Amino acid sequence: MKKLLLFVLAVAGYAAADGRTNISVTTDHTQLVLQVKDNGRLYQTYLGERLSADSNLDDLDQPWAKPTNSNIAGFEAYPVMGTEDYYDAAMGIRHADGNPTTVLKYVSHEQRATDGGTETVIRLKDEVYPVNVTLHYVAYAEEDIIKQWTEISHDEKGGVDLSRYSSSMLYFESEKYYLTEFCGDWSKEMQMKHTELNNGKKILDSRLGTRTAMAMQPFFELGFDAPARENEGTVLMGTIAWTGNFRFTFEVDHNGALRVLSGINPDASLYRLKRGEVFVTPEFIFTLSTEGVGEGSRRFARWALDHQLFKGKEDRMTLLNNWENTFFNFDEAKLTSLFDEARDLGVDLFLLDDGWFGNKYPRSNDAAGLGDWQVTKEKLPNGVPYLVKTANEKGVEFGIWIEPEMVNPKSELAEKHPDWILRLPNRDTYYFRNQLVLDMTNPEVQDFVFGVVDNLMQENPNLKFFKWDCNSPITNIYSHYEKQNQGNLYIDYVRGFYKTLERIQQKYPDLNMMMCSSGGGRCDFGALKYYTEFWCSDNTDPVERLFIQWGFSHFMPAKVMCAHVTNMNRRASVKFRTDVAFMCKLGFDIGLHDMAPADKAFCQNALKEYNRLKQLVFSPMTYRLVSPYDGNHCVIQRVSEDKSHAIVAAYDIHPRVGENLHPTRLQGLDADARYRVKEICLMPDARSGMYFHDRVYTGDYLMKVGLKVLTGGELSSRIIELVKE
Ligand code: GLA
Repeated sequence: MKKLLLFVLAVAGYAAADGRTNISVTTDHTQLVLQVKDNGRLYQTYLGERLSADSNLDDLDQPWAKPTNSNIAGFEAYPVMGTEDYYDAAMGIRHADGNPTTVLKYVSHEQRATDGGTETVIRLKDEVYPVNVTLHYVAYAEEDIIKQWTEISHDEKGGVDLSRYSSSMLYFESEKYYLTEFCGDWSKEMQMKHTELNNGKKILDSRLGTRTAMAMQPFFELGFDAPARENEGTVLMGTIAWTGNFRFTFEVDHNGALRVLSGINPDASLYRLKRGEVFVTPEFIFTLSTEGVGEGSRRFARWALDHQLFKGKEDRMTLLNNWENTFFNFDEAKLTSLFDEARDLGVDLFLLDDGWFGNKYPRSNDAAGLGDWQVTKEKLPNGVPYLVKTANEKGVEFGIWIEPEMVNPKSELAEKHPDWILRLPNRDTYYFRNQLVLDMTNPEVQDFVFGVVDNLMQENPNLKFFKWDCNSPITNIYSHYEKQNQGNLYIDYVRGFYKTLERIQQKYPDLNMMMCSSGGGRCDFGALKYYTEFWCSDNTDPVERLFIQWGFSHFMPAKVMCAHVTNMNRRASVKFRTDVAFMCKLGFDIGLHDMAPADKAFCQNALKEYNRLKQLVFSPMTYRLVSPYDGNHCVIQRVSEDKSHAIVAAYDIHPRVGENLHPTRLQGLDADARYRVKEICLMPDARSGMYFHDRVYTGDYLMKVGLKVLTGGELSSRIIELVKE
């Protein structure tokens, strides 16, 4: 009852005795308070641990709570450039008459239940120009996640240009701020780097358009007073649901206050907003954890599975891919033999990768054919239908690779529709992997891209899976369609892309799709409303993968992280490679014909175990116990939500000679329960050498004393299952 009362109070917001309005956005553990001050403008007065219901929110407006640097009234919720604020603003606008300012005043707000959360909508407007801004917040109470976005519109007669259009603006006051970024490159995605923030700005952004996250991923962590830690400390974890240019700005002012801005990167995107059009920003999604990033990651994973991901609650298929195995070098007979291997291995699906299309310019390497989505007759005379049918007859589903937003200049498509290609009309063209990007702002191109999937589906209703690749960033920034509004290109591209995915999803709701961009060059919660999974990296060296998967696990549930066993890094055993992929969405990209019988038997058994344990592997309750960044080992644990079942994966990378190996304390178990502990996924004929194998321990023991799961064996690994008795 008490909880219910709290809730009602929180969603109502209330007018204080002096007539001020406080608006609270609350989850079970976090509270954001916004207040309309005497000047009629909206300010953030609090963001932190949830306050008790007895707290008077008006007290948050004490004089000491105001920034002391100037006569400004506080931390404005959505400040616009050009007025009294000294620092980076959330919005920038040039009105039809050339005036570059807007002042937003509070109009109204409401709160309502929505999609598993509570939505707060706050309307603001300029009293001089007909400009409206609406702030949206959705608070997911149990998951402790808040997402927010903004809508901007106007009713001016002429054109209005937006130079900034942030999704969110949040303020913090702390002694010190430490930022963790997730950066990298092809083949080394999601590398974690840390830096202390001092006065001035630090920006994490991308301006690559399509392959947007090639160098910087749209995720960050912010530790307050200490660098972000796994199990303790206050940390903000944030991301933007946008498959395009993004920008996070962290700015510490001269009083030591930090503002965090998120949104589409406005660089190169001066947006011309038409009268009556509503500019909807992407969602900024954050959690504020007081128990480190481990707790934050579990919140993100839970929330994503429950509320954001396409088919978040549904199963995923294991697969055999042919890319690392054959590259472009295959024909019908070869593929048919791989279907047998897929069946023999025990996977659900065979995924045919690049190289199956193009006739005038066959796709026998990456220099030609992209855009011509007709099967290469010479290579595959009986077409895709034969492949689907044959795979199905062998008990295997069939999936196929496409890269529909791209074109090789050496293609019939480029010859037929040169104006569909993003390319400067009067300058040299820059090619990335010999290809160019199609103009998804153009509805005809959207139809074409939709048609790539639609045609294949019409012809092959039994197709179950697409791998949707995207290898080139946008570099030749010019749209033949946008004409005078080139500044809209990067943004309208993403909107056209989403529109197309929406159509596909509506027509083919059962289809599973993997998002890929030369590996993990595209990964965000915007695209994952349409894709069931993503390819983390082309780098499948298991050691590198431990780092990449470690990084992604901070925000992404295992269910969407595709991990394939390949022959990259043969120094590692097939078991080690499989054990690394086992903790994500498992697949194989390897030939079985030259695999040692014991390795093959191991893989077959691993797949059986994987199918048995899938629900556990996909649980959002991840505990990162030993970090590969700390040196020579890595341990990851996953626990079922009811704590009755757990799995621990332990990897020894390059142990030091004579290294002291201490027990690893497990986490997240039921202290009072008893768990039977077994090593599984052993090589055929191997017996577990671990002292704890098939013994029973209390959760209390496992969490306080721990298990010696690490060894001194180079590139050795083990998977351990715990079942509550
Ligand atoms: C990209 C992908 C790979 C593979 C190739 C095919 O690099 O990341 O997995 O599909 O394209 O050309």
